[in-house]
Amino acid sequence: MARNADRQWKGKGVTEQGLDAPWWKTGVIYQIYPRSFQDSNGDGIGDLGGIRQRLDYLEWLGVAALWLSPIYESPMADFGYDVSDYTAIDPMFGTIDDFDELVAEAHARGLKIIMDFVPNHTSNLHRWFLEARSSRDNPKRDWYIWADPNARGGPPNNWMGYFGGPAWTLDEKTGQYYLHNFLPEQPDLNYRNPEVKEAVWDDMRFWLDRGVDGFRLDVIDRMLKDPQLRNNPPNPDFVQQRDNPTQALKRVYSEGAPGIHELIQEFQQVVKAYHDRVSIGEIQYFSDPEDMVPFYGESESIELDLPFNFGLLLQHWNAETVRNFVVAYDAIVPSWGWPNYVWGNHDQHRLASRVGGKAQARLAAMLLLTLRGTAFVYQGEELGMENVEIPQELVQDPQGKNMPGFTRDVTRTPMHWNADVNAGFTTGKPWLPLSDEYPTFNVETERANPTSILSLYHALLGYRKITPALTMGALHPLDEQPDNAFLYVREYPGERRLVALNFSGEARTLNVGNLTPDHSGRVVLSTAMDREENADLMTLHLRGYEGVVVEL
Ligand code: GLC
Repeated sequence: MARNADRQWKGKGVTEQGLDAPWWKTGVIYQIYPRSFQDSNGDGIGDLGGIRQRLDYLEWLGVAALWLSPIYESPMADFGYDVSDYTAIDPMFGTIDDFDELVAEAHARGLKIIMDFVPNHTSNLHRWFLEARSSRDNPKRDWYIWADPNARGGPPNNWMGYFGGPAWTLDEKTGQYYLHNFLPEQPDLNYRNPEVKEAVWDDMRFWLDRGVDGFRLDVIDRMLKDPQLRNNPPNPDFVQQRDNPTQALKRVYSEGAPGIHELIQEFQQVVKAYHDRVSIGEIQYFSDPEDMVPFYGESESIELDLPFNFGLLLQHWNAETVRNFVVAYDAIVPSWGWPNYVWGNHDQHRLASRVGGKAQARLAAMLLLTLRGTAFVYQGEELGMENVEIPQELVQDPQGKNMPGFTRDVTRTPMHWNADVNAGFTTGKPWLPLSDEYPTFNVETERANPTSILSLYHALLGYRKITPALTMGALHPLDEQPDNAFLYVREYPGERRLVALNFSGEARTLNVGNLTPDHSGRVVLSTAMDREENADLMTLHLRGYEGVVVEL
């Protein structure tokens, strides 16, 4: 019987220990994709009632906050990232009362609620856009970005939408093109118009006043466009067939124009007018940590609290590249900023599929949850869920419909709750097919298994919560890094923890005896969840893909 599995870690939580840190620094944030989390009314689509039913699970798991992908009123052209009313809940997900109850119940359990806010664009059915397109002289015309056709009657420039095709659509009635960096159903707002800012901020305050604990701000770095609408240059790194065709041009002018930092800072002021709320910004998938740093701003709390770090998503799975990235990133985050790590979300392939399988996914989990910084966990990663092949005729994601092979549905399939029909997700017909792995890899079965990947996540989250070295401590990579391994010490006054991760499939013995005077330490967690023992650090044994946390 493994000892760690359902163990309740003894000790005070980091906040009770008087650490002067906000919840979003010490806690782990769990992303819920509401459509696929839990259905409570049998329509095959998850909803707020479903999330409420699963709060017990989330509390047990040990996360601090729930980030909900969009639940606003939406025609669902991009599954909620096309909002037609920022202050209404889509009936598919429930009512505003359901939302208020969810917030109250979550708060009663000490769980925070973070909303996904989508300021860059609205739905084409938002009343603002309906007004704007009604005539050239409508007072809301300038709330969006309009341009005349080029000399041949075509789009004003070469900008392309992220989901394929031009970023411009002709509005026949008024004879001008409108800009949409995503689908034609997602027109971009014009943030050079002060009325737009005020209207959007009012809608954010609507949720802040209801008690939400912060926002994840969608494509926040892409909101300002070149006023001259200059053509984007070709992307020299683009490889035909391999890359998503919309990457053929570099998005130099179509987004992120000068002034973007000042604009994000204005958003930050809206959030920071409320006590203890967090701003998380979706910025581009930068692989170079230097590109992420400017989004922290030049002093504490003036820009984003957590500009998403997607670096791990871009690294090849090997110890050296992962280590080099982590070390560079950890060193460059400014003293007034706080690091964060994302290794999965609703847009990217499943973690286990990306790193080569479930054994590697366990190692990735230990890394993610022992680094210095706020970790984000996407629903289902804790079960070891893998990509689900979706036949093209069943593809729902507009990106996958427009560009076969690039569907994000593979990572959005329903959560596995148990081994019953439809994994306990719905009594109806699920909106996306389920993985055939669900009878084995589901919450109920894995919770009962002390060595499952879910038990590992639970143990890591529990241990992290009572261990300031892991939440707030410094990160010191060891000077000598053996091939195919990543070793670091997390240190906080009075405690030190070694994390040793074997990225190779081969067993090995490491000598880290110099870390303690008597060359010994105590293994408190292993990715295999079957080990808790005193160890001779001169001969620290690790199995293939095994990682351990050692108290020094
Ligand atoms: C973000 C979201 C993605 C969405 C896009 C447009 O990248 O994560 O799911 O399609 O923005 O809103």
